[in-house]
Amino acid sequence: MSIKKIKIVSSDEIMLNKKINLILRSLEKSKTSKEKKGIKLEGQKLIKKIKEKCNSSSKKYFIIKCNNKKRLLENIKFIVSLFGKKISQNSKKEKMLLVTPNTSLIKKFQKEMNDKLRYHQTNKGGSIHTDGPQHKDTPKFLLMASISNKNRGGESIVVDGKKIFDYLRKNKPTICKTLQEKYLFERRGFNYSNKNIFKKPIFENKKNFSMRYLREYIITAYKTVNEEIPSDKFKAMNYLDKLLYSKKFQKKFKLKEGEIVIINNKSLAHGRTSFAINQLKPRKILRVWYN
Ligand SMILES: [Fe+2]
Repeated sequence: MSIKKIKIVSSDEIMLNKKINLILRSLEKSKTSKEKKGIKLEGQKLIKKIKEKCNSSSKKYFIIKCNNKKRLLENIKFIVSLFGKKISQNSKKEKMLLVTPNTSLIKKFQKEMNDKLRYHQTNKGGSIHTDGPQHKDTPKFLLMASISNKNRGGESIVVDGKKIFDYLRKNKPTICKTLQEKYLFERRGFNYSNKNIFKKPIFENKKNFSMRYLREYIITAYKTVNEEIPSDKFKAMNYLDKLLYSKKFQKKFKLKEGEIVIINNKSLAHGRTSFAINQLKPRKILRVWYN
């Protein structure tokens, strides 16, 4: 069975995209700062609706399609600015990161890629995760803007963590309970105390549901403190991976140039298929985190 490819776009999504592209066109024509300010306010109202859709729709993600490819970077930058306060992605406090393979680091750390490199620096596929698990409060929204993605592979995968949680609660309650216990996480990219490690559950389902998961960061955290992952925790994590990689739960789409996906990072896990490295036109996805 192949992974579900998403083709259904709701009339709401089409309408919101039309409005966004109208705003982008007026921005292009605008001359005064007063005009630009008014356009920004209109844009912010649309983004508010998009965020609401990511919270309430069953898809929990939204794709903005910028029509004017000639103004790709300007338009992406403008849309990124409409979302509000960005979250740092590393100790350098970088808030917009380019997800692109770092070929020299990949060569250098071929065998230790999982331990030494952050996911956004590789061309690996697979690892289904949520973003920013090293933050105390994980980002509510993840924005990924496609600047270049024409190479073979590099498709985006999304998995509804809440659906998996509900499935486990019903069919595997012990595993579901274990995944709500605290695991060690490496806080990669940052320099916090306690060996840059903290303890957090993978699933939380108190007032709101949220998922925090990046397998590699859990593995390296236990290695750092020289501890074995308790076997019930390890088994629960393996079972979670089995479901995350199951085609039954996955949805897949390829983010074309000029497309921006906004993902509800508390509910959805995501990943990508591996991709070929093209030195002349590498895959470039701009990533931003918001609350
Ligand atoms: Fe990610």
